[in-house]
Amino acid sequence: MIRRSVILGTGSYLPDRILTNADLAASVDTTDEWIVERTGIRQRHIAADGELTSDLGVAAARRALAAARLTADDVDLIVVATATPDQTFPSCATVIQHKLGMVRGVAFDVAAVCSGFLYALSVADAMLVTGAANTALVIGAETFSRLLDWSDRGTCVLFGDGAGAVVLRAENAPGTSADRGILASKLHSDGRYNDLLYVDGGPGSTGTVGKLRMKGREVFRHAVTNLASVMTETLAAAGLAATDVAWVVPHQANLRILEGTAKKLGLPIERVIVTVDGHANTSAASVPLALDAAVRDGRIKRGDLLILEAMGGGFTWGAAAVRW
Ligand code: UT7
Repeated sequence: MIRRSVILGTGSYLPDRILTNADLAASVDTTDEWIVERTGIRQRHIAADGELTSDLGVAAARRALAAARLTADDVDLIVVATATPDQTFPSCATVIQHKLGMVRGVAFDVAAVCSGFLYALSVADAMLVTGAANTALVIGAETFSRLLDWSDRGTCVLFGDGAGAVVLRAENAPGTSADRGILASKLHSDGRYNDLLYVDGGPGSTGTVGKLRMKGREVFRHAVTNLASVMTETLAAAGLAATDVAWVVPHQANLRILEGTAKKLGLPIERVIVTVDGHANTSAASVPLALDAAVRDGRIKRGDLLILEAMGGGFTWGAAAVRW
């Protein structure tokens, strides 16, 4: 028998306020047609004044705990993926730990921007399978609206706020590709591309938060290739192939990236969970938001093989093969 990290519950949270493409067209030189045609995005959610990344994360975590029929007292590890923590420090994870009323366990953030949830899931999985922890909350939470230059039509139309969470618990399993839980995960990064997607400020340079800057076309070019390759690599590490996949649960940056990646893997777009139309790109929150949507509406069923994937600033990218 080996230890496997099994997802016992999922949860998500989106702020109430919705910003439509038409709303944006009133303030920058863009149109609903351009945004829908080039990205598939129709609307995004925006956090209210005073509503912090940790608040979004706590709301998603509570829903994931309820779905898992556990409480915060059962958790001994919190890993939060975010590029928009409430403060430079302490970590958003310790803020969430406190807001959940936890007084034990380990809590820390990981910074891998849009790939953050895959990084957080992989780190939590490693800690669970080695016995460093038993029950983990893995959270992706972002308020990217606060990093945007609202006068830059090339970026401000693409992002939104939200949070998603999963509860992972270590369980004994035979160690085959039929096991429930995380079967394999693969991460990559390549800092040569730091200047294609970045924030032009920070605590150790300008002393300000800065605004998001992106060379979208170049990021797009790398995305499909990197994502298809890491998905194939991850499935192979699990002894599986694309034909075994029931659902792709991707980072939601652009519908054309989702279509291009599915095509490269030989999978129909009907096998891809798409939420980009309603949420836009919520960075580290997008994969667990999409996962929670498809779990709650019944598309994802026990025994299904899922492939989670994301790519983001750094570049960073990764995938995880999960048996539901
Ligand atoms: O989550 C991290 C990963 N991020 C991504 O994966 C994002 C990847 N990139 C993309 O999704 C796409 O590259 C974008 C959606 C950002 C842009 O789409 P594109 O098809 O690559 O367009 P483009 O950047 O080549 O721009 C085409 C034209 C340009 O005008 P000219 O130079 O051809 O006259 C832009 O100025 O579209 C213009 N444009 C806009 N027009 C109306 C750029 N943004 C807008 C806009 N509304 N919002």
